[in-house]
Amino acid sequence: MDTLETKRLILRGWEADDLEDLHDYSSDMRVGPPAGWKPHFSKEESVVVLADFIKNGCVWAIEYKENNKVIGSISLDKDAARRDVDCRELGYALSADYWGMGLMTEAARAVIDYGFETAGLRCISAAHFPGNDASRRVLEKCGFRKEGMLNYSYRLYNGRVLSTVQYIMMSEDWQRIKEGEDGPSLSEKLALIVDDNLWIMTNLANAAALIYDEMINVNWAGFYLWRDGLLKLGPFCGKPACTTIEMGKGVCGKAAESGKTIVVDDVHLFPGHIACDSASLSETVVPMYAGGKLIGVLDIDSPVRRRFKSEEKTELEKCAAVIEGIWPRDSLDK
Ligand code: SME
Repeated sequence: MDTLETKRLILRGWEADDLEDLHDYSSDMRVGPPAGWKPHFSKEESVVVLADFIKNGCVWAIEYKENNKVIGSISLDKDAARRDVDCRELGYALSADYWGMGLMTEAARAVIDYGFETAGLRCISAAHFPGNDASRRVLEKCGFRKEGMLNYSYRLYNGRVLSTVQYIMMSEDWQRIKEGEDGPSLSEKLALIVDDNLWIMTNLANAAALIYDEMINVNWAGFYLWRDGLLKLGPFCGKPACTTIEMGKGVCGKAAESGKTIVVDDVHLFPGHIACDSASLSETVVPMYAGGKLIGVLDIDSPVRRRFKSEEKTELEKCAAVIEGIWPRDSLDK
């Protein structure tokens, strides 16, 4: 199989010599069980798995350049749910001694790029068990989109049946992620599509569509507009939402009241959060002003906890600034 190289890692085919390293991390209770596989209690079990890895041909050994140790595995294996299509499922395991260093994200990015650019895949899927936050973070950082929960879908080695949280990435998603690394930012794109000769509602509708379409793991994007002393639902993309929010109520009302952007990592922990779509787990609300007066808020929801990092907060504030810049001076109906 092809060898891939990243800054800190070499991803290569498994060799008979890797037995000790494989057994080292596979016998650790912290590694296998959260991913659904039985820890290796004996060397013999590792021998069988190693032979399988070598034969299988779609599992890379992850070698850490600094000490030439094999510290985990990563694979693009068949996706049982997607037969006869160009899709592979990403799977991985990493020695607990190397957690929290961003190594799996580094390996996964190289493998995803290989899958789309060299192997010609159209789609890469992935899944983790609910609560496996480390695995979830890898997928989010790579830019996978969460599809939802596949209930009662995986029988563990100990007989228990668990649900899986499913993720997907299409080849065009990956192209977009790669372009995004040096292409125009979201607010720059927004500035290109709005036009102050158009009706403000037309611009808001396209702004909501752009943000919803461009941002990964977003399930609602839109505006609440300040009219007659209330925040009233304006153009948006996503599920139907609550129509009216009072000042100081919910995340939107609190952001409008405080005049500051509010980033909520977990909406269930935000007192007074107004749930419109039960899939929403985190949220960012940016208040917007024109001529010194409140005009509304930009509201973005995500089905992923802690979705909005400080770069995204800044970017959404820049989007709000673009809207503020084209706001009609006299009437909303212009
Ligand atoms: N969650 C918001 C309400 C609007 S929806 O997210 C679209 C809030 O608490 O204000």
